[in-house]
Amino acid sequence: MYRSHTCGELRMEHAGQPVTLAGWVQTVRKFGSITFVDLRDRYGITQLLLGESLNAQLDQQPLGREFVVQVKGTVTERTAKNKNIPTGDIEITVSEFSVLNGSKTPPFTIQDDTDGGDELRMKYRYLDLRRNIVKQNLDLRYKVNRAVRNYLDSRNFMEIETPYLIKSTPEGARDFVVPSRMNPNQFYALPQSPQTFKQLLMVSGYDRYYQIVKCFRDEDLRADRQPEFTQIDCEMSFVDQEDVLNNFEDMTKHVFREIKGIEFNEPFPRMTWDDAMKYYGNDKPDIRFEMKLVDLGETGRGNGFKVFDDAELVVGINVTGCSEYTRKQTDELTDWVKRPQIGMNGLVYVKHNADGSLKSSVDKFFNEQALKLIADQCQSQPGDLILILAGKEERTRKAMSELRLEMGERLGLRDKNVYKPLWVIDFPLFEYAEEENRWVARHHPFTAPKPEHIHLMDDLSQYAKIKANAYDIVLNGTEIGGGSIRIFQRDLQEKMFSALGMTKEEADHKFGFLLGAFEYGAPPHGGIAFGFDRFCSLLGGSETIRDFIAFPKNNSGRDVMLDAPAAIDQVQLDELALSLVKK
Ligand code: AMO
Repeated sequence: MYRSHTCGELRMEHAGQPVTLAGWVQTVRKFGSITFVDLRDRYGITQLLLGESLNAQLDQQPLGREFVVQVKGTVTERTAKNKNIPTGDIEITVSEFSVLNGSKTPPFTIQDDTDGGDELRMKYRYLDLRRNIVKQNLDLRYKVNRAVRNYLDSRNFMEIETPYLIKSTPEGARDFVVPSRMNPNQFYALPQSPQTFKQLLMVSGYDRYYQIVKCFRDEDLRADRQPEFTQIDCEMSFVDQEDVLNNFEDMTKHVFREIKGIEFNEPFPRMTWDDAMKYYGNDKPDIRFEMKLVDLGETGRGNGFKVFDDAELVVGINVTGCSEYTRKQTDELTDWVKRPQIGMNGLVYVKHNADGSLKSSVDKFFNEQALKLIADQCQSQPGDLILILAGKEERTRKAMSELRLEMGERLGLRDKNVYKPLWVIDFPLFEYAEEENRWVARHHPFTAPKPEHIHLMDDLSQYAKIKANAYDIVLNGTEIGGGSIRIFQRDLQEKMFSALGMTKEEADHKFGFLLGAFEYGAPPHGGIAFGFDRFCSLLGGSETIRDFIAFPKNNSGRDVMLDAPAAIDQVQLDELALSLVKK
């Protein structure tokens, strides 16, 4: 037996006991003839006291950082206690020690505030994972995983694995593909999600399915996106939208209760997609703060100010308590909206001064009366600052949504310890893809239109109006899950494929298996998938999912530790009947 206890376990009640510990050397501090060592393992840190009798051995075999050692000794009360760690009342008076393995000096310090940069820590991820802060994140991930499984298990959900080597699933990203040696010139696609399989499982009668499962999407990466990520993927039969929302709202509440000790007593708010776009400018509103978007088309236009008069959208937000912003501050905000990422030409402000007077950056065009109309529409109070953007509809709405979040951030209204979940419902069934010049499915092509909108599918000019039984769960401005009620009749599914511009042959070729299955007694069904990494990172107070994944990829999709992706040798290429084109 290498150890009798872990490094996080011993307390005053163990004083006097002989123990054996094993772990990594965190620090070595020599004071004359005695040496203190902090010994670390997954469970914590315990101080070791190596006295005079071990000096000779230490001189011969000095301990360095990250050495793996085993010590035998007795638990002793410390003279100088350390209140910062749970084992801080005791130390081990060591009688024997042996070095189980040495270590090179690590390339960065294995501490919370490490001196290692991002790339270096990713290259030596196995060392980074020793840091307490990273360990806590993985620990939280494991706890969320367990809480989810417990909940789903208690509700009769059955975990079923689905294959990774499949055919393309249309979730809107590019596929990762895998060449097949046994079928030359043919490729598997890795699943963007198990969508079609979970629907087939419903046809097979497994009426409550779940899987905590890897999904693969070749898309541009951001803080909340990885090329391979994990979903809590779920599907249910004989349900309508209300059943799905209630069940997964309960699951979310269960996780918050178990992990954070937070109780949500009220139902999660629900907002239609139309309202989310109108009041927040995006479909994942951060409702930790108000500052809603106000359409100022009527009051803004007709004052001779060309920028407003020519704009498709004039939109404002009321920033509470900021009327005293200086010229420097408003100029800086103007520069902020002019950055290429935001892409606006300028920013207009109206200050609602503490004395009730109104002052704007466009006083030349707007008299007191005109400004008052804007102030009234924005419901501003003395002391507030109204910010206005104008221009092309989509870009302006997006820019205002970003500006709102930025102001929320600057004013400290986006506290990561405050959690505000909501459902966004009634998504459009289609969206227009400008680059492709055609309508595509907003969620995916298996999503059911609202029954009262099915007839509109015959008329292309009505596509924008068709709403789906599709929903997202949003937490603090991040989409943590999305799902829908599905089409379960062959003819409606065929109609959907055809609406998306697929010929009958194409539909049969791509999804014949599903269309076929719908002819053998498919039950009504629906489901949802949570972004597990995103959910964990928000629960852990971060927006970067990488921190919650043991071996993540960097922003270029590389695993810098493995140095993948990498070239393969000619033999492998030949076996796969592949030849490379120089790029
Ligand atoms: P969707 O595409 O909305 O739905 O994905 C579900 C959730 O997965 C998370 N997510 C991601 N997380 C990290 N990195 C990524 N690249 C990434 N992409 C998505 C998001 C998202 O809400 N099959 C459907 C679900 C269904 O209809 O039941 C699906 O995959 O949090």
